[in-house]
Amino acid sequence: MTALLELSEISKYFGGVRALHEVDMAVHEGEVVALIGDNGAGKSTLVKIVSGVESPDTGEIRVRGEATNLVSSRSAVDAGIRTVFQDLSLCDNLDAVQNLFLGQERHGSFWSGRRIRRHAMEEQAQRILESLSVKLRSLSTPVVALSGGQRQGIAICRALISDPAVVILDEPTAALGVSQRAEVLDLIHRLRDQGRGVVVVSHDMKDVRQVADRIVVLRLGTKVAEFRRGEYSMSDLVSAMTGAHEPLDDEGGDQ
Ligand SMILES: Nc1ncnc2c1ncn2[C@@H]1O[C@H](COP(=O)(O)OP(=O)(O)OP(=O)(O)O)[C@@H](O)[C@H]1O
Ligand SMILES: [Mg+2]
Repeated sequence: MTALLELSEISKYFGGVRALHEVDMAVHEGEVVALIGDNGAGKSTLVKIVSGVESPDTGEIRVRGEATNLVSSRSAVDAGIRTVFQDLSLCDNLDAVQNLFLGQERHGSFWSGRRIRRHAMEEQAQRILESLSVKLRSLSTPVVALSGGQRQGIAICRALISDPAVVILDEPTAALGVSQRAEVLDLIHRLRDQGRGVVVVSHDMKDVRQVADRIVVLRLGTKVAEFRRGEYSMSDLVSAMTGAHEPLDDEGGDQ
């Protein structure tokens, strides 16, 4: 099966710092790939490269099998890749609909003065929120009043407005309570069930184990391991991330 997104031998230096060294990674339809690694492993750099924010020094990016240059955020969006960054970039004083369409508002015709079409946007917002089962009491509450899980839901729904093939989530469960975390993990499963490719950057190994079909481990800019669902234990993940080889207490591993 052709990968939706495929990275080959991606390297990136910042001055003398090697942020990424010949990293390979692929995401297929209906697949959740987790990208894990310690601080400084290169996760954010990789996310920026596939979001068109940074360019790799060397290596190739293929989208549905075709070599593609992601030279700007726009070109990544046009290629069907949307990223939800960790800060979510929501406007606190605006409501869900305004946030969903921020910068991508629906306008009426030139002849109607190109007024923003609130009604059409509300309908589409409702559809997208429902497709991921994001529950809001009202579409017109400022998002500052919503829970962390709801805010994450809105940020993810905003990414879906352009119907991307690949959705990248940077630490989607960081700073969430237990039930909200479960909501967001459900939401990730729904993205996958919609046939999208999902890349999840995470520090949380429990989340990763729950949600990922495949796990790519980075350490100091190099991909050091890749695991498939059910083929690893917690201590495999930890030792790949840290480079330590001594067996650790496994908190109820898969095996
Ligand atoms: N703009 C930059 N200028 C210089 N060095 C950078 C820059 N961005 C990243 N780096 C370096 O590249 C390496 C990888 O950083 P990156 O932010 O990708 O790691 P990360 O895995 O996201 O870490 P964290 O878990 O802390 O977010 C680090 O050594 C970092 O200091
Ligand atoms: Mg980072």
